[in-house]
Amino acid sequence: MKNLDRREKLALFGGLKTIQKEFKRYNPIGAEEVQAAKEVIESGVLSQFLGAWHEDFYGGPKVREFERRCAEYFGVKHAVTFNSWTSGLVAAVGAIGIEPGDEVIVTPWTMSASATAIMHWNAIPVFADIDPETFNLDPGSVEANITPHTKAIMAVDIFGQSADIDALMAIAAKHGLKVISDTAQAPGALYKDKYAGTLAHVGGYSLNYHKHIHTGEGGILVTDDDEIAERSQLIRNHAEVVVGDKGVTNLSNMIGHNFRLGEIECAIGIEQLKKLSGFVLSRQTLAKRLTEGLLGLRGLRCPVVKADRNHVYYIYALVLDIAELGVERARIHAALQAEGVEVSDRYQNIHLLPMYQQKMAYGSRGFPWTSDICRRDVDYSKGICPVAEEMNDSSYLGFGMCSYDLSEGDVDLIVAAFRKVWSNLDMLQGGNSVAKEV
Ligand SMILES: Cc1ncc(COP(=O)(O)O)c(C=O)c1O
Repeated sequence: MKNLDRREKLALFGGLKTIQKEFKRYNPIGAEEVQAAKEVIESGVLSQFLGAWHEDFYGGPKVREFERRCAEYFGVKHAVTFNSWTSGLVAAVGAIGIEPGDEVIVTPWTMSASATAIMHWNAIPVFADIDPETFNLDPGSVEANITPHTKAIMAVDIFGQSADIDALMAIAAKHGLKVISDTAQAPGALYKDKYAGTLAHVGGYSLNYHKHIHTGEGGILVTDDDEIAERSQLIRNHAEVVVGDKGVTNLSNMIGHNFRLGEIECAIGIEQLKKLSGFVLSRQTLAKRLTEGLLGLRGLRCPVVKADRNHVYYIYALVLDIAELGVERARIHAALQAEGVEVSDRYQNIHLLPMYQQKMAYGSRGFPWTSDICRRDVDYSKGICPVAEEMNDSSYLGFGMCSYDLSEGDVDLIVAAFRKVWSNLDMLQGGNSVAKEV
């Protein structure tokens, strides 16, 4: 055993912990949001939606102003707010005209709502694998999963970097499919010179409290398509009672909900939107510092940012080369955690959730998979997405950049913790890490 002083010795083995402080939690809500919310409360109009064909079908003044500002900011014809982006995704899938039993290709490396929005309409999620560098849908795997029943692709701009949207749109054009962009985690990210989320037929952002900007809960759908916008608004607000008076003749999926966002949230959203580019820029600056600090650590890959896009670092994702390191991820993870770096050692493989493994969703008889609307036996077994599975099982490490209000000094502490662990990798090799020390 090496003779190390307490600062050099891994905290996992009783050495001094590198990060002695708790990082400040990210809180983007400031005085402007407080004032905006106060004004709405004082006005007494906390919501102005009416579930009928009426001027107020579109909501109150703050809803409309926030939507107008979002459309302007993201450079799209329409922005439609929702009480969550899960609701927005449900509306998007319904609005593009998905039928029961239609197949929609989606990534397993995402939050579960990407696929449950498909399930909502009794359509069938089909999981394609991810690109090992960006964690986004691999266009080759998407193409390999297309069947005569495929109707759409759900692209997810995971962790803050756009999916390969040009390639996915080209596949969609070739096969007559629609593309939904789940850009929940990447508002403000650029693909070429356009905002991620705006390049698909329909896309949108989450406004839940984990994200760069938030309204507590909420979501924004964006589209240039008039019909998708109208159908989304209808699904948001009791479509079935509105279509008659509004003169809507395409009744497919015109089953409405109450997916409406309130005036207070939209007033807060207006202020948050003004700050988005500043928040994104500061996170990009910190991520650059982190990447520079980690440069040269063997067997560790920092986020790969493609030349035609940028990254807004909702999550700063790392990949370990286990063969080169000769150390299992679990040991590195435990050592980093002990030094005070809150890294996560897994993300999502949603195809492995019990719902898909047991094909049990609506009721107890396996609907929709056991019904006639499902025209083939869709495979959800482990092995269908080898890249996503390997990442989750053994090589991925993620740091939730967007959870903290980090200073440059905090980033330097994270770098120091990584460097300390890497200079003690030999202590983590083989056997039980604690036993090694004894
Ligand atoms: C990729 C992705 N899709 C969808 C959602 C759902 O968004 P919300 O929480 O606003 O419903 C999230 C939320 O974290 C997400 O990360």
